[in-house]
Amino acid sequence: MHNPILRVLGGESLARPPIWMMRQAGRYLPEYRAVRAKAGDFVTLCLTPELAAEVTLQPIRRFPFDAAIIFSDILIVPHALGVKLWFEEGEGPRLEPVATQAGVQAMRPEVDRNVVTRVYEAIGRVRADLSKDTALIGFCGAPWTVASYMVAGRGTPDQGPARNLAKSDPKLFAAIIERLVDATATHLTGQLEAGADFLQLFDTWAGVLDDEAFERWCIQPSAEIVRRVRAKKPDAKIILFPKGISITNMEKIVAACGGDAISIDMHADRKAVRARLSDRCAIQGNLDPDILIEGGMALDRAVDAILEDFGSARHIFNLGHGIKPQTPIENVERMIARVKG
Ligand code: CP3
Repeated sequence: MHNPILRVLGGESLARPPIWMMRQAGRYLPEYRAVRAKAGDFVTLCLTPELAAEVTLQPIRRFPFDAAIIFSDILIVPHALGVKLWFEEGEGPRLEPVATQAGVQAMRPEVDRNVVTRVYEAIGRVRADLSKDTALIGFCGAPWTVASYMVAGRGTPDQGPARNLAKSDPKLFAAIIERLVDATATHLTGQLEAGADFLQLFDTWAGVLDDEAFERWCIQPSAEIVRRVRAKKPDAKIILFPKGISITNMEKIVAACGGDAISIDMHADRKAVRARLSDRCAIQGNLDPDILIEGGMALDRAVDAILEDFGSARHIFNLGHGIKPQTPIENVERMIARVKG
């Protein structure tokens, strides 16, 4: 096991943290924009193995990241369950809303193999081209976050439609979540079988829930997914990214899921997270994507503060959220050089 991220996930702490970047394949790269234009639309890009593999590898050719993340999207899972998905240019994802019993019944009972197989084929292609020192990350969205897009049919400022449905009709909402638990466990296991080295579970909207709802809609489904993945793949390593939650809830979700790492956003109190979680799991994060846009001395200071705060704790350097399209490439180079020392 030579890859430094796998070593950190396995329990080691390294003198310099390994590094990768959320949304590292994306619009800040001109070569991504070129392939994206050629593909036409975003879903086609995700589901054409040759193109998905190509954009996955683009940031690895430019930068010495310790991992590639397979190019796909968290909304490919509802798409594989038969929910219509498209991207509105310059706006974001759109789904045919699933917010009624009839909507749930119209979903497939299981993921469409014709859809997920394309992701596995892309993983196989990437793995074949990637040096063995670079890990390949598979991922899914956590059920709460994915359901929140399904209920509204789009992103909203605070995913209010899903929060309301979970309160007004918890049985219906639970039916959506259960279908997603099943599909997500299947798709994560499938990615490992196709050649992914470890997994990340994105729960971008975890922070809008109160403690009770967080327990019911984030912790329980995520723990069940991890249990099912590990029933098939006992050594599966999983990073949890429940964005915007309290440290107490971080402790709860790591304990319930047995997560190997927790990814924290740029608002988290690093010293407190380290004090309360670093003996149980590795910590990933948490550079502010806006400071990466700013660059220069401000970027250097922010990187140094993160390195200092985590010190000898098990740490994977990353951003607090995805890189933004307007980020200068030279700032990414500067960040990596500073982290690698
Ligand atoms: O490089 C990587 O990180 C791997 C690929 C990846 C994408 N989306 C590609 C993408 C990953 C891991 C995701 C996760 C994802 N997708 C999340 C969770 C993490 C997060 O960012 O909060 C969410 C909520 C989604 C759903 C989604 N996909 C939204 C809300 C949007 C629109 C916002 C935006 O940035 O445009 C997308 C589109 C998307 N997914 C893009 C990329 C590169 C941009 C689409 C384009 O090229 O036009």
